Amino acid sequence: MTPQQEPSRMTAPLLRARKGGGKIVALTAYDYAVASILDAAGADLLLVGDSLGMVLLGYENTLPVTMDEMIGHTKPVARAARRALVVGDMPFLSYHLSEEQAVANAGRFIKEGGAAAVKIEGASPRRVRLIETLVEADIPVLGHIGLTPQSIGRFGGFKVQGTTPAGARRLVAEARAVEKAGAFGVVVECVPAEVAAVITAEVGIPTIGIGAGPGCDGQIIVFHDLVGFHHGYMPKFVKTYADLHGVISEAVGRYRDDVRSGVFPDEAHSYHLKAGAARRPKSGRARG
Ligand code: KIV
Repeated sequence: MTPQQEPSRMTAPLLRARKGGGKIVALTAYDYAVASILDAAGADLLLVGDSLGMVLLGYENTLPVTMDEMIGHTKPVARAARRALVVGDMPFLSYHLSEEQAVANAGRFIKEGGAAAVKIEGASPRRVRLIETLVEADIPVLGHIGLTPQSIGRFGGFKVQGTTPAGARRLVAEARAVEKAGAFGVVVECVPAEVAAVITAEVGIPTIGIGAGPGCDGQIIVFHDLVGFHHGYMPKFVKTYADLHGVISEAVGRYRDDVRSGVFPDEAHSYHLKAGAARRPKSGRARG
């Protein structure tokens, strides 16, 4: 591909400029193979979400995820992305201790991971100041309000947020504060559709909804949920577009049966010595 044919890369300013334009298509990605497919399929934003802790690593929630785990998964996604904006999700306690710690860890996503931006959860006054600090350090930030999974200890579980008038007003104020701090966009998670629509109308940066109805400027979903990688509990907001759990289980079941019955490998999948070659490969070791 010549430089002229390169797909034009999505940047944080370009994504911000999509406000009110075409809907933003965002997905999670945790590895090269999947990120390559999602990028080629037209995703605008690939989030290396700390949800990988639950989806890939089997943790009960996102809290145990480490910076090293996040960087390890960000690198292959960044290598795969030709066009999509790659955003690294800062894990629990990677930005809570001090501004220095937050800038250093956000910088790792950019310098080591190859991400173009980071996402941080929450909009407390301290968190908003932190967004300002990161933006000042030339690190583009995607905000995240509503149900922020790193706060489950405080929320007492995964619950819809902004369901009371006061709660809804607080979310609007948080979105405004995140915008004022310089974030290029904000994820709005598990919020009534009516409230998310108001937030979207009230801020000048794109809202990217997950469980926040159709009024947002874009949507994000966990890729493994989208393709039905597991048959367990799914939140109401997940729309499953494929049954990969079924497809993979069926394929592995057929492989298992073929191996056990000796049907695999067959002639078509085996190598043979060339005609005339010794029937038994020569051993380098002397006998006896
Ligand atoms: O970690 C994640 O995947 C996320 C998205 C669901 C927004 O934060």
